[in-house]
This record gives sequence, C-alpha cells and structure tokens, in this order.
Amino acid sequence: MENDPTPKADKTRHRHLAITEPSPWVRRFAPLIAGQSVETQSILDLAAGGGRHTRHLLGLGHDVVATDRDTASLDDLKSDPNVEIIEADLENGNPVFSGSGPLAGRTFKAIVVVNYLFRPLMDEIFSALDPGGVLIYETFARGNEAFVRPRNPDHLLKSGELLKLAEGRLQVVAYEHGIVEAADIEGVKQRLCAINDLGESERDDDEPAPHKVMPS
Ligand SMILES: C[S@@+](CC[C@H](N)C(=O)[O-])C[C@H]1O[C@@H](n2cnc3c(N)ncnc32)[C@H](O)[C@@H]1O
Repeated sequence: MENDPTPKADKTRHRHLAITEPSPWVRRFAPLIAGQSVETQSILDLAAGGGRHTRHLLGLGHDVVATDRDTASLDDLKSDPNVEIIEADLENGNPVFSGSGPLAGRTFKAIVVVNYLFRPLMDEIFSALDPGGVLIYETFARGNEAFVRPRNPDHLLKSGELLKLAEGRLQVVAYEHGIVEAADIEGVKQRLCAINDLGESERDDDEPAPHKVMPS
C-alpha cells in the first residue's frame, strides 16, 4: 500500500508474529536440551516475539523465560507458572545479563534466538549459557537482501559468523548457512546448535562427549 504509514520494522514484526509454528531448526535440536545435566532449570527465548518457541519448549516440559521489548503477544502466557515474561529493550546500550540489566546474573540451560541479531549482545548471550547449556540460534544472513526483509547488514550474519563466535567456546553440533526454501520464512539463513561443554571431557585427549545430530 503506497501511503501506508506503518514503519517497515513494524510491518516485518507483524509478518513474523503471524507465524505460529516453531522453526524446524529449533524443533530438531530442542530434544538435546533435556539430555543435558545443567545447573539451572530455565530456557531463555530471547526476542521471543509471539512466543512460538516459548510455547514449543513449554510443550516439551521446560520452564521458559521469554523476553522481548514488546510482550503483548505473550499475554495469554502470563498465568502459566512455567513462564517468566520479561519486557525489556535489549538494545538500549546497557548490559542485559549484568549490572542492573533485565537478566542480570542469570544463566540458562539453553538459549534460543531466532530471527534476531544485535551484535553487541552476542558475547553476553554466549556467557549466559550454563556449563552443558545448549545454544540454538537461527537468523538471516548476507544474501537475504534478494528476499524479503531484513536487508539491513546490521541484521544479517556474515559467512561463518556464528561458527567463529562459537570456536573455542562451545562444541558445535550443527551449523548451516544458505538458502532455506522450505521453512517458516524463506531466505538466506545461518543456523547453529552448540553446547557449552568444551573442557568437560572424560577422555585423555580432552575431547568433549559427542551429541546426537538428529536427536529425538
Ligand atoms: C522477527 S521477530 C522474531 C520473534 C521470535 N524469535 C520468532 O522467531 O518468532 C524479532 C523480535 O525481536 C524483537 N526486538 C527487536 N528489537 C528489540 C529490542 N531492542 N529489544 C528487545 N526485543 C527486540 C521484536 O520485538 C520481535 O519480537
């Protein structure tokens, strides 16, 4: 619509909120979370949007902390004792997981981030994983400019970017980068599943125990 005054970012958010099915990547690797022995009980759904992954993880029996700057679409979950909803701006220049941040001092048995990227937060996200915690990350990457939004390079991962961030920090169980046609939103995506268990080895060569790549 030519004269539609709705900002583009809002339109994109509404388009994404209309998707209620969890991402196939999250669906595939969520079973790994149950197999890990970790200190805390909650999973963090960062930039949770309409909560499609929060709802999926709840359905698998997990406790979930869902955070977003706009949590109106999560209102129906407010009375669920297994959900904590935190409305917060994650990009206001203040730390999120320390100081007086909304998640200060918190760590998680898993962190799920889908279709959200704010590079200054990446280090904090990785540090908020418990020992043995699972990171499931999926978002758009360079090349997505040919598809629908996002097209802003600040919101598009570079080739190998998640892999580089995980190197030496997490055991990478699965990584993909490329054109995804059969998924919730088609486009160029990068996907990582990695576990915070480097150094938790019972082997002579210090290699961590392997995980299932097709968990069930
Ligand atoms: C594309 S949606 C993805 C939602 C959800 N992860 C999913 O896959 O369905 C991106 C989400 O990031 C949230 N977001 C964007 N900027 C944010 C900020 N500064 N602080 C917190 N959340 C933000 C938006 O409100 C939106 O819900």
